[in-house]
Amino acid sequence: MKSIEIKTLNRKYKIYIKNNITESFCDYIKENFGKNGNIIVVSNERIYGIYGKIIKDIISREYKIKEIILNDGEKYKNIDTLKYIYSKLVDFNAHRNDVILSFGGGVVGDTAGFAAATFGRGMNLIHCPTTIISQIDSSIGGKTAVNFEKIKNIIGCFYQPHLIITDPEFLKTLDEKEIINGLGEIVKYGLVFDFQIINDVLNLIGDFKNDENRLFNIVNNTEFGKIIYKCVKIKAEIVEKDEFDLNERNLLNFGHTIGHSLEKTIGFDKINHGQAVAIGILCAIDISVSLGYLNEKFKKKILDIYDILKLPKFITKTDVDEILNALKFDKKFISGKNKFILLEDLNKPVIYNNLDEDIIKNSIVNNIK
Ligand SMILES: NC(=O)c1ccc[n+]([C@@H]2O[C@H](COP(=O)([O-])OP(=O)(O)OC[C@H]3O[C@@H](n4cnc5c(N)ncnc54)[C@H](O)[C@@H]3O)[C@@H](O)[C@H]2O)c1
Repeated sequence: MKSIEIKTLNRKYKIYIKNNITESFCDYIKENFGKNGNIIVVSNERIYGIYGKIIKDIISREYKIKEIILNDGEKYKNIDTLKYIYSKLVDFNAHRNDVILSFGGGVVGDTAGFAAATFGRGMNLIHCPTTIISQIDSSIGGKTAVNFEKIKNIIGCFYQPHLIITDPEFLKTLDEKEIINGLGEIVKYGLVFDFQIINDVLNLIGDFKNDENRLFNIVNNTEFGKIIYKCVKIKAEIVEKDEFDLNERNLLNFGHTIGHSLEKTIGFDKINHGQAVAIGILCAIDISVSLGYLNEKFKKKILDIYDILKLPKFITKTDVDEILNALKFDKKFISGKNKFILLEDLNKPVIYNNLDEDIIKNSIVNNIK
């Protein structure tokens, strides 16, 4: 079992990472919150359809459990869903002693996290992330939000959880699209911080590079927990250094500036977060090449890795101006000035301000087919 402690302004909390740790859920809840309060699970119909019975059986051994089950999908990460959660919390007569347990991917975690931050001016919050993205990224660091008027994560706040319980065992039921989604973020960690992470993933695929089902080998291998741990550790260290995303934490946005506008223009239902980030990474590499930091050989090497990991290598015909326009709504565009995370070299990220709009545009055009 691996555990990581994060110290933030308002609290310190632990992230426990272990296969089948969920069996001991109650021990961890007791350790952190005692026996007071109900456990209010916030999940969605899909994940709870798979794991709801197990989770309910485990938690109800020691706690009273209540459930709030949301519709599945990014399009439900909105104010209507928040209102639904708040009204359920009122029905349950929930108070600050109760614990919200978000059980699901980043959509559930971000939405339940914001509800926990705001209901009763802040409830206890445990994240139990069930996708790769939520295990290595969204559950850690306290960013909570919902989308509004097609702008991603525009209504939200920082609210650190009290505990994170990460069980890589859950990843075994992800479909391929969701594995690819998570691999986009893993590649980000590998390129920005530690390339060995990408080698570790490739090693799990081993000789099966041409096997149609190769991506399932990754999540079915218990060694994958070690890769999850490496990514979590990087994220935790960055959050400790820059909780409010004013400096180093920006580095985690590698590939996200253009990635977010792709999600917005192409549609959350047509391209998922990791796929959009994967294309955003290619654009950031192209920009780094045009500034003379990287060369074309570097991009070719990354594209070969994309082939093995089934990451998208281009987007199909899209309106470039629409993407550029969407960029202006990105939180990284402050007062009309842009901020890009680029690579000066492998694992040498740099924050670049006020990039020429033509360079940005060319990088997008370059990755459209
Ligand atoms: N707060 C942050 O710091 C942060 C960081 C990165 C991403 N995000 C947000 O996270 C969201 C993306 O999260 P995501 O990629 O986890 O997507 P998601 O939450 O939509 O989950 C993807 C799909 O997988 C299903 N699923 C979840 N766990 C499963 C399991 N174990 N088995 C089978 N199916 C399962 C979900 O029901 C959903 O259909 C975006 O909204 C993004 O903005 C937030």
